[in-house]
Amino acid sequence: MSENNFTVERMIAMLEERDRISPINEECDKFNIKGGDIVIDYGCGSGGYTKKISELIGESGKVYAVDIYDLAIESVRKKISKYQLTNVETVLAKNITMIKDNVADKIIAIDMFHMVKETDIFLKELHRLVKKDGTLFISIHHMSSEDVQRKILDSKLWEIKGEIDYCLKCVPIIK
Ligand SMILES: C[S@@+](CC[C@H](N)C(=O)[O-])C[C@H]1O[C@@H](n2cnc3c(N)ncnc32)[C@H](O)[C@@H]1O
Repeated sequence: MSENNFTVERMIAMLEERDRISPINEECDKFNIKGGDIVIDYGCGSGGYTKKISELIGESGKVYAVDIYDLAIESVRKKISKYQLTNVETVLAKNITMIKDNVADKIIAIDMFHMVKETDIFLKELHRLVKKDGTLFISIHHMSSEDVQRKILDSKLWEIKGEIDYCLKCVPIIK
């Protein structure tokens, strides 16, 4: 991890402030989330998206909130407790293998792809986690759409189906 604790603390504090002032709401419409879906919020930060998705999937669904930093996981746990989110499980990225293969109907990776160092390994891991008919949404933040698309296509594991509201919608290539 190259970021120091102060930077991570500041990032989480800013996300928590965003969640307080302007909670995530219709930003999730583009994911077409349904009741009972299993969703992985990869790079969940303070869990702003996690909370909204938890509401959308209902009691029969599940959200895995995954992050590389303990501070993010703590922040999501506070939300789980405050809002009684019974369908959310937090996972530190180093423990990602605890999530079984082909479980996710949807994976969202919002405002985080630019922070991923080994994008090939990352995209391979997401390919392991998604269902064969599942969908991955990767947002375009701090990089050009072309650069994100190139990395996705270079992995040879994902087909890009389109771009909706600064998000690339991808489906897994089944070999
Ligand atoms: C800018 S925040 C965005 C948080 C959230 N997706 C949102 O949009 O509200 C990026 C998050 O991705 C996490 N992150 C960065 N690289 C990661 C990786 N390789 N695996 C898991 N999480 C990662 C960071 O720790 C941070 O919490």
